[in-house]
Amino acid sequence: MTNCWIIYNGSLISEKFVDQANLMAEAVKKYNVEPVVLKNCDVMMNLQIDLEDRPDFVIFLDKDVLLGQFLKQQGIPVFNDPDIIETCDNKAKQYLKLSQANIPIPKTIIAPKIYKNFSIKQTGYFEKVIAQLKLPMIIKEGHGSFGMKVYLIETEEQFYEKVEELNGVDFVFQEFIASSKGRDIRVNIVGEEVVAAMYRHSETDFRANITNGGTAERVELTEKQINIAKQAAKALGAEYAGVDLLFGKNEEPIVCEVNAAAHIRNIYNVTGVNVGEKLTEYILRKLAL
Ligand SMILES: Nc1ncnc2c1ncn2[C@@H]1O[C@H](COP(=O)(O)OP(=O)(O)O)[C@@H](O)[C@H]1O
Ligand SMILES: [Mg+2]
Repeated sequence: MTNCWIIYNGSLISEKFVDQANLMAEAVKKYNVEPVVLKNCDVMMNLQIDLEDRPDFVIFLDKDVLLGQFLKQQGIPVFNDPDIIETCDNKAKQYLKLSQANIPIPKTIIAPKIYKNFSIKQTGYFEKVIAQLKLPMIIKEGHGSFGMKVYLIETEEQFYEKVEELNGVDFVFQEFIASSKGRDIRVNIVGEEVVAAMYRHSETDFRANITNGGTAERVELTEKQINIAKQAAKALGAEYAGVDLLFGKNEEPIVCEVNAAAHIRNIYNVTGVNVGEKLTEYILRKLAL
């Protein structure tokens, strides 16, 4: 019987991570695949010992890129490919790729590397950033999910306070798309197809993330939204993606980010589509299992 591992992070204690791993497990069972749900720390990355039990493939719901690489190096197909997870997990890296592919994104400036406990405050760099992007603007850490590392900066005081606080951390400065305040669209893509989408909105926050207090509902995508979301996933090489789209001035789609380890619970609750089923179909087809 075909079997797979579903990997989530063992250090995250919130129920939602194991819950979505179980939802994925239900999905693969529908296709007669035997799932084994594992924490990342259940797999010993001992470089001297070959893995004994080897699954036919791995669905990787975590961002432990080194574990992904370890499994890939053992010849096991991993979805998404760990290289893709690594790129997407660094917002600056993914914006570089999206801009290279001419995908519409908010105007973005990648902050230069500043070593911890050092400063470039005296160089005039930050003044240039403010002049180019204007306030209010968004500051976004390279690594972050659920809106937790995304900040709306309205004053120069907040700006300097934040850049000081982020000393030693990767981040980007970004144009605030005011027409999209508190609302966005999550588009789930598998292979090259859109399989589900939801409109998310918040009355209390500029971030639309559900985990951050937003609510969501079904939505019919426009042709443009479908195309841009597909192009964004493709530009990053993500076979499985959760693309966040913002609304520009004339409601035109602007890519906010691409998630390569997108959660599947909320989209399931809102649309009834278990994205895991679509992913399983895709993987079985690709691997000819
Ligand atoms: N440039 C922006 N302009 C307006 N809203 C934004 C912008 N960037 C992010 N947001 C809002 O913040 C939310 C979280 O940002 P996102 O980049 O998707 O980070 P995360 O990985 O934490 O979800 C988005 O869903 C969107 O509602
Ligand atoms: Mg997001």
